[in-house]
Amino acid sequence: MASASFVKLNALSSPRISHRSFAHPSASPPPRVSFAIRAGAYSDELVKTAKTIASPGRGILAIDESNATCGKRLASIGLDNTEENRQAYRQLLLTTPGLGDYISGAILFEETLYQSTKDGKKFVDCLNDAKIVPGIKVDKGLVPLPGSNEESWCQGLDGLASRSAEYYKQGARFAKWRTVVSIPCGPSALAVKEAAWGLARYAAISQDNGLVPIVEPEILLDGDHPIERTLEVAEKVWSEVFFYLAQNNVMFEGILLKPSMVTPGAEHKNKASPETVAEYTLTMLKRRVPPAVPGIMFLSGGQSEAEATLNLNAMNQSPNPWHVSFSYARALQNSVLRTWQGKPEKIEDSQKALLVRAKANSLAQLGKYSAEGENEDAKKGMFVKGYTY
Ligand code: 13P
Repeated sequence: MASASFVKLNALSSPRISHRSFAHPSASPPPRVSFAIRAGAYSDELVKTAKTIASPGRGILAIDESNATCGKRLASIGLDNTEENRQAYRQLLLTTPGLGDYISGAILFEETLYQSTKDGKKFVDCLNDAKIVPGIKVDKGLVPLPGSNEESWCQGLDGLASRSAEYYKQGARFAKWRTVVSIPCGPSALAVKEAAWGLARYAAISQDNGLVPIVEPEILLDGDHPIERTLEVAEKVWSEVFFYLAQNNVMFEGILLKPSMVTPGAEHKNKASPETVAEYTLTMLKRRVPPAVPGIMFLSGGQSEAEATLNLNAMNQSPNPWHVSFSYARALQNSVLRTWQGKPEKIEDSQKALLVRAKANSLAQLGKYSAEGENEDAKKGMFVKGYTY
């Protein structure tokens, strides 16, 4: 319900301070205007949901691959892209015993939000029982952006309010919208503006319907540029994103971010150490992200499982203004797929493999991960040029 504290907070903030500082001493004080910048019906709930997801030692399991992308995952282990196989794979992941110790939220594709286990238990109920918040991918994917340097824009605003209301009824409490920015393509001012504006409109609509928006302008790893160039582009992108989030009256306490880490391009001659990635990424975030934002949940973007965990660990070696954690898809699922191979007798081992990665990232969120004993497979990169999701 509407947050009394938010109304008060907003009504009592800067307007009174500016009155005291600038009004003529003899002028009588103007009537107190109560203006709530953002006190929608769901304010309290949004803040609570965001805080629950951004809770110590936990992060997000992203399994919101579209049917086409899930098909690619299944094809990698020789399975057909049927609804039955997608359901079996998602059941394996979502019913992993003990998952809620390390995972606070799971992003689902629409099909999964409405699916159940083989025994008829809704996936949403499995998640709630495990204290994992169900989330939903709401964007409709990327299409070419005319007038740009062969860049793309993200569709999905049409009908978003009614879809979001339906997802809320079905049990979703947070949303994800992924758009991309390509460094080798420029990026053009048009593509950055379009990405930022789309994310801001989506975020406002999500909050209006009770869903905490995850704001994800993925800066693709593609390219041979140095880390300094990624820093420059990331600063530009996030400054525009926050400019438009503010213009759309989005409540920062009720959002989560899903940035790419600041690294050299995947085809750059040098790799950066976790310490360097942490230094550049945190510098960028501290320059651009207000401390009102509760959580930064990184994407893995094609890094190897071990690399994504090590980088996250390096970012948590000293306190940050926000919860700094993970929202990985590839860097949590790769070992699972390799272990499962579509075999029912391998389900338990696959779930253990998921727990190994989830626990490693949980430790990294707390800054306590050590890569000792990591197997060689976890160190293999998963970068795919021009990756689509
Ligand atoms: P990756 O961790 O595979 O980059 O996934 C990104 C994503 O947007 C998932 O929701």
